Amino acid sequence: MQTLLVTGGAGFIGSNLVRMLAQQGQYRVVILDALTYAGNLENLEGVITGSAVKFVHGSITDVECLANLFATESVDSVLHLAAESHVDRSIASAAPFVETNITGTLRLLEAARAAGVKRFVHVSTDEVYGTLGPEDPAFTEDTPLQPNSPYSASKAGSDMLVRAFVHTHGMDCVITRCSNNYGPYQFPEKLIPLMTLNALEGKPLPVYGDGKQVRDWLHVEDHCRGIMLALEHGRAGEVYNFGGYGERYNIDIVMAILERTGADTSLIRYVTDRPGHDRRYAINPHKSSSELGWHPLHSVEEGLAATIDWYRSNSAWCENVRSGAYMEYYAKHYGTSL
Ligand code: NAD
Ligand code: DAU
Repeated sequence: MQTLLVTGGAGFIGSNLVRMLAQQGQYRVVILDALTYAGNLENLEGVITGSAVKFVHGSITDVECLANLFATESVDSVLHLAAESHVDRSIASAAPFVETNITGTLRLLEAARAAGVKRFVHVSTDEVYGTLGPEDPAFTEDTPLQPNSPYSASKAGSDMLVRAFVHTHGMDCVITRCSNNYGPYQFPEKLIPLMTLNALEGKPLPVYGDGKQVRDWLHVEDHCRGIMLALEHGRAGEVYNFGGYGERYNIDIVMAILERTGADTSLIRYVTDRPGHDRRYAINPHKSSSELGWHPLHSVEEGLAATIDWYRSNSAWCENVRSGAYMEYYAKHYGTSL
């Protein structure tokens, strides 16, 4: 059985990916995660067995940790998701984004290359392409990179390092770029879980600017299937875009959340806009469909309703995230504090 190293496996997308892999049982999985504020081992409750799915606490910036891991785990391929992922945090402080997303990716590439891994899948974002006007065609893999936030600039930097390792060292890497994910286990700093939890608790819903920014919503399960298709069928050195055909105004997403939760529209607060706020993202996923046979299976309406219901029925998870109690999980289960 092949071994996959999943970096960032305790985060939102990483934990959904590991859960999917554990259910399928085709791969042994080793998770490497630094357990920053965004890493939550409760996302993987019942999934980490130690044998089929193993958890390693460590950072992609830690050269020694990486060397030990590759020396002991016989990693066949890497699925690289670890990152600082929140745009607002990158506006407040960009340095951790450069450290993790650029330096960390470089160190991981070097360690994976030294270990001779078969394939390295780098999970990137549509935000590297910049912003679109209302009538612009959707991003393709050939759209020039024009990142606008410190977050997207750091992701673009990591993409360029991956590209350089392919070109210079002949490493077998694939880059995926996808639109906004939603689904279970997303940290409630991002639009959909934040608005859902606030609506359920009767708290104000902060809508940035006029709320008419457009995001192209993709269910996390569809993204995870895409990552695995890129691993198994992608061509070395290629980029694959994943999008949900799910363009919606932010305010329409917020209204749908209010309707599903039964909360009142008076909770909406229009607040000061995000500096440099990208107006519209939209993905053209034609290449992934034609080369990988990938198609999103969830519609935004069905996926959003199921996601809101998931947060409503997983109140213990929500409470622990809101209170910060989730950060005690590692100490409780592994006997040492972080
Ligand atoms: P997340 O913030 O929920 O999780 C990130 C995970 O990485 C956390 O578990 C965190 O502990 C871990 N991590 C952070 N720094 C680390 C380090 N130095 N070493 C090891 N682990 C570290 O992020 P997410 O939303 O799950 O995103 C996963 C990846 O997908 C990121 O690379 C992100 O850029 C990309 N992406 C996300 C979206 C989205 O909508 N969420 C869309 C496109 C691309
Ligand atoms: O497009 C992919 C990207 O999507 C990923 O690469 C990022 O990791 C991920 O965080 C996400 O970035 P966004 O900035 O688009 O996501 P966020 O959930 O922060 O915001 C979505 C939209 O909602 C955006 O236009 C800002 C707006 N927003 C967000 C928050 C948190 C609000 O209006 N109010 C809010 O409180």
